[in-house]
Amino acid sequence: MIVLGIETSCDETGVAVVEEQRIRSNVITSQIDLHARFGGVVPELASRAHVTTINPAIEQALADARIGMRAIDAVAVTIGPGLVGALMVGVAAAKAVAGALSVPLIGVNHLEGHIESAFLEEPDLEPPVIALIVSGGHTMIARMPEHGRFEILGQTIDDAAGEAFDKVARFLGLGFPGGPAIDRLARDGDAAAYRFPRALLNERNYDFSLSGLKTAVIRWAREREATGEEFELADVAASFQEAIVDVQVAKTVRAATDEGIGTVVIAGGVAANSRLRDKIRAAGEQAGLRVVTPAPALCTDNGAMIAAAGARRLARGDTTALDVGADPSLSLA
Ligand code: KG4
Ligand code: ZN
Repeated sequence: MIVLGIETSCDETGVAVVEEQRIRSNVITSQIDLHARFGGVVPELASRAHVTTINPAIEQALADARIGMRAIDAVAVTIGPGLVGALMVGVAAAKAVAGALSVPLIGVNHLEGHIESAFLEEPDLEPPVIALIVSGGHTMIARMPEHGRFEILGQTIDDAAGEAFDKVARFLGLGFPGGPAIDRLARDGDAAAYRFPRALLNERNYDFSLSGLKTAVIRWAREREATGEEFELADVAASFQEAIVDVQVAKTVRAATDEGIGTVVIAGGVAANSRLRDKIRAAGEQAGLRVVTPAPALCTDNGAMIAAAGARRLARGDTTALDVGADPSLSLA
């Protein structure tokens, strides 16, 4: 089965061709330059950019996979959660391709796609798994007993992890998107230089709270600016990153242990973070867990993860009517 996957939930136009859980092409057209001067994603600009990039991205994905349009057996598309106008562009394109070819359409939850990237990364992987999903819009721990079934064990009660990275980076003048900038800078910093709050770390739940950390870092930097006391930006970046990573690693490993599940996967844009990847691998090894960290390009938004999730649904006969709409607040559970 050859599945075309389309992802337009935020600021990347992702189109991929996946055949039997093998990636044949994975085209990602980023809008970073478009949004950078605004310091964040501007929804209306994102939708318009998807309109101009979606057809060339589909053509490129087919060309990279060395197939023609008629080789496609099904079209998978992100139907939510995400920016409604952005989602609608992908959904409309997917309907057009599926309708013209008379092949099944499969609506995919963006977060399910993120989790499926772990199964693309390690083909022998089988559920059940515990998934840490950390992105610009979401931060949660979910139990996945089988493909397509999810139970949310806990999630952020305020900001998402990527949002915290982006906001702190913007305040520190590191540009957009902030996650990769902080990750890079933190490599030259001392993670133990400053002790920032690790909210909910010792609570017996799997919830997160990140807005207090964001505020603490910003207040801390303002105070230093006011007093003229010098500090190394790299130390601040590393200490902030460490506070986020510590809570995520501890809670994810504890969820796996509590639930008696031997495999942990990390997913979403923040799962590309080098410190998170290192620390969760080390903690998992110590706890006797298998830890799957998809390649960074599969962690950030892409069409391959949507095609892979769609292929799983198709195999179960779970297809979507052609009149489906985008659902910006679609839930994983
Ligand atoms: O999954 P994603 O590509 O889009 C959403 O679904 O939101 O995640 C984007 C988020 C952004 O907030 C970005 O700053 C963050 O992922 N991110 C990172 C890294 N790479 C991307 N955060 C920390 N470290 C990174 N290396
Ligand atoms: Zn995402």
